[in-house]
Amino acid sequence: MEEYFWDTQLEYLKRTRDLYYNDDYLGFLVKTVWKITKPVHIIDFGCGFGYLGIKLLPLLPKGSKYTGIDKGQQLIIKAKEYFRNLPYETEFFVADTNEIELESKYDIAVCHAFLLHISEPKRMLQRMVNSVTNDGKIICFEPHWISSMASYELDGYKQSQIVPLSILQKLYEKSSNKTGIDGNMGTKVPKYLSELGVKNIECRVSDKVNFLHTVLNQSEKQKLFSSLKEEGVGGEPIKKDQFIENLIKRGLSLQESKDQFEAELLFSNVFNIESSLLYTPSMKITFGEINR
Ligand SMILES: C[S@@+](CC[C@H](N)C(=O)[O-])C[C@H]1O[C@@H](n2cnc3c(N)ncnc32)[C@H](O)[C@@H]1O
Repeated sequence: MEEYFWDTQLEYLKRTRDLYYNDDYLGFLVKTVWKITKPVHIIDFGCGFGYLGIKLLPLLPKGSKYTGIDKGQQLIIKAKEYFRNLPYETEFFVADTNEIELESKYDIAVCHAFLLHISEPKRMLQRMVNSVTNDGKIICFEPHWISSMASYELDGYKQSQIVPLSILQKLYEKSSNKTGIDGNMGTKVPKYLSELGVKNIECRVSDKVNFLHTVLNQSEKQKLFSSLKEEGVGGEPIKKDQFIENLIKRGLSLQESKDQFEAELLFSNVFNIESSLLYTPSMKITFGEINR
């Protein structure tokens, strides 16, 4: 049987999450913005290897509990392994969040880079809302690809040479119209939550700006460079004809597809560990309160 895609992506997940938030910013959100002062039970939809649990549990009041759900059996095995020797109460389930029956008993439903992979995100948000007690919270950390792409800065090159924004904008729009899968999901969540009756909705942006530059020491440079490569920054476009055919299928014209190929090829040829590059993921963090 074919292996479930996300079960093959543990290394990608482990190496890229550090690009998104500084720990002090997450601490600021928990303590100053969300004002979580009592132990809470959190449920993480599409938890992967438990990234949000790893980040949030040390910041939450003692006695807080974390439940993670994911379709990836291998990811859940890793999550259980990770938390086995840590002093936190956790539980993990291998399940499809479209199907699992959940009681409305959690204080906070969270997700990270999850809704962008869901073809009916509003329906999934309704399930998240349903899992929370009255007066509970929902918090969604979701990407905003075009904003992230707009903030690339590679020394020595014009941004338009390496990131043709209007082509990418069209590509993301066409793809999301076709499949419902939307890499700019972060900007859609506030509206969906409002339509679902969630109260006091606010949206923040992730704080981290990654700066690869020559004066970093060798190990810092190597770590950041490999995280960026794993994230797909400056990735090499392979098999030109197939690449172009695929973009045409996704809604671009022949010329736009060729231009996108050339831009990615240039970026991959000139981006290396000695480059000076700014990378700003610009995740959108939307949160609100459930008041039925
Ligand atoms: C990009 S990964 C993010 C994982 C984790 N939240 C993180 O940020 O490290 C998306 C995750 O959503 C999970 N997922 C997607 N659709 C799902 C579904 N219907 N039910 C359960 N998990 C799902 C995948 O298995 C994958 O682990």
